[in-house]
Amino acid sequence: MRIVTTKAEVRAQVRRWRGAGEKVTLVPTMGALHKAHMDLARLAGAGGRVIVSIFVNPTQFAPGEDFERYPRNLDADADLLREAGVDLLFAPGQEDVYPRGLDDLTRVEVPGLSADLCGAHRPTHFAGVTSVVARLLLLTLPDAVVFGRKDYQQLVILRRMTEDLHIPVEVIEGPITREKDGLAMSSRNRYLTEAERRTAPLLHAELRRCAARIEAGERDFPGLEEDAADRLAEAGFAPDYVAVRRAGDLGPPAVSPTGEWVVLAAAWLGSARLIDNVVCGAGS
Ligand code: PAJ
Repeated sequence: MRIVTTKAEVRAQVRRWRGAGEKVTLVPTMGALHKAHMDLARLAGAGGRVIVSIFVNPTQFAPGEDFERYPRNLDADADLLREAGVDLLFAPGQEDVYPRGLDDLTRVEVPGLSADLCGAHRPTHFAGVTSVVARLLLLTLPDAVVFGRKDYQQLVILRRMTEDLHIPVEVIEGPITREKDGLAMSSRNRYLTEAERRTAPLLHAELRRCAARIEAGERDFPGLEEDAADRLAEAGFAPDYVAVRRAGDLGPPAVSPTGEWVVLAAAWLGSARLIDNVVCGAGS
């Protein structure tokens, strides 16, 4: 596996691959890699060459969030990627991604959606995500990009961004990888204490319970949201929100032309902010 840090290196390699008729797929990450990232890399690999990028993006963290303590271990990450058969690790420095520094950045923003759900609690977060993913796509110029459904809102926003900006890249969705007890894998799970780790799977259990009630025909969405949030609070979580939305575009749930809904939640457990979602309805 090659490891490169600059635009010139990554673009030269991608040009060679594409020149040889090979498809190139990018998997953007912030490192601290775990099995879910490897699953995404394997999904990407089914299409040809795989680039995994590792960049802890400062612009998607607000002051006071966990940018400084976000786990960083490039050597361990590189070992995992090598084992997974990844072709290239792109690990740019801040100066490679934001050569003019962080002040007065050229921003990419998907309004509306970015202020909703997680965006209501992290108002600058998604503008940071779209601003960095647009750069990562333009730095690497891949044929396809893979995002995980664990970050459902992020996926919907990034799909919108690539469509709105006519970025010629195929967006591939990866399913959620979970621990045996249902907890969605996340780099942030390592912030949990042992006791919190035992409580954490209740988040997924609660979302499944809510989804089952929708599949059984209940349509009082605000009531379902409130009930799930109350039960999470009783279990020791501090929920930011539980929300039922129509799947696909996260529109209001009352009308779902596809008959599919997604139940999403973000909840604090100790110093970890956990997110999860469950899709339910017709096609699931
Ligand atoms: P990060 O949290 O490192 O996640 C990288 C990718 O892995 C994202 O597409 C995310 O949705 C996916 N992922 C993480 N845990 C997952 C799980 N349990 N199941 C399925 N997919 C999972 O998301 C980011 O980084 C950043 O915001 C980024 C897009 C790289 C921009 O900085």
